[in-house]
Amino acid sequence: MGDSRSLTRQDLTRTLFGAAAFQLLNAGCRLGLFRLLHDEPGLTSEAIGSALRLRRRPTDVLLLGTTALGLTSLAGGGYRNAELLDEMFRDGSWEVLSDIVAFEADIVYEPQADFLASLREDTNVGLRRFAGDEDDLYRRLSNTPALEQLFFRCMRSWSKLSNPILVSKTDLTGVQRVLDVGGGDGINSIALAEANPRVRFTVLDLPGATAIARERISAAGMDDRITVAEFDMFAEPFPTGYDCVLFANQLVIWSPEQNLALLRKAHDALAPGGRVLVFNAMSDEDGPLYAALDNVYFTTLPASASTLYRWDQYESWLTEAGFSGLERLPGGSWTPHGVISGTK
Ligand SMILES: C[S@@+](CC[C@H](N)C(=O)[O-])C[C@H]1O[C@@H](n2cnc3c(N)ncnc32)[C@H](O)[C@@H]1O
Repeated sequence: MGDSRSLTRQDLTRTLFGAAAFQLLNAGCRLGLFRLLHDEPGLTSEAIGSALRLRRRPTDVLLLGTTALGLTSLAGGGYRNAELLDEMFRDGSWEVLSDIVAFEADIVYEPQADFLASLREDTNVGLRRFAGDEDDLYRRLSNTPALEQLFFRCMRSWSKLSNPILVSKTDLTGVQRVLDVGGGDGINSIALAEANPRVRFTVLDLPGATAIARERISAAGMDDRITVAEFDMFAEPFPTGYDCVLFANQLVIWSPEQNLALLRKAHDALAPGGRVLVFNAMSDEDGPLYAALDNVYFTTLPASASTLYRWDQYESWLTEAGFSGLERLPGGSWTPHGVISGTK
């Protein structure tokens, strides 16, 4: 839901300088400021400057910014992290957040400068910033292996942040084999396999991703339960013999027509009683803020019509593709992820 209180000048300041706020967060992460303050709370600015190898002026600029944003605080001449950041260090989610910040800095930031052009031209103009002439980000990744590695490392962290919702909301009772379409490095299949010991999975993806998925699945000791296959989801019918098809962070990439076609393919491949699961960030008409802001990336980069669609849009495509018994399962978490399940 959107925030209905009136806009203040302080709100306007945050929006006007939103790009600068991100630079402060990114610099604090990359320079190791937050890790330093987690290990040694209460350091003075002199001690911080010397530990980060920054001169006086840049140290002051950094600390003024992180403190004004509430990322750090100052008391009695000593700086500390916000409690939320320290909590993330303690519970292990700091690594995930750091990867996500790196994703925004190294993948999203430059193309996002093409947002206005992307709106005017109604396509992902920002893709021009990556080498190649393919129409979507995923096909271009293999032209730049360092970028491909970075993308999948960060995608893994995006998924780690949200997939506890998938695991906790999805009831796989009665399901034997799940087809994870565009399953990336297998993170969601691995998490679901750990939570559902009887279920087997197949991850389908493009060649760059499948190579990474095989390594990850082996490292998780899941070779006997998760298989991987190279497969272009638009080129061929989906394989049969599965009683559940999963689209995780997938139907945010394609146009409504493509999503309907993919859901129809899932319907064709499933036996009666088979299920489809759509898992990704969802929007409503007036928010939430997370979805509204993340939509700028989707509009600018992945593919020509990528969008964080609304729940009801997915529901209408699922119905049109022939699924019934639709269930809406909101995650109720920081990210606006949720699951919609349907039955053939
Ligand atoms: C946003 S990522 C999501 C990955 C994974 N499902 C997750 O949630 O972590 C989208 C995935 O779709 C894959 N993909 C894109 N186009 C594809 C195609 N035509 N056929 C198969 N996979 C594709 C990409 O390689 C990428 O791994």
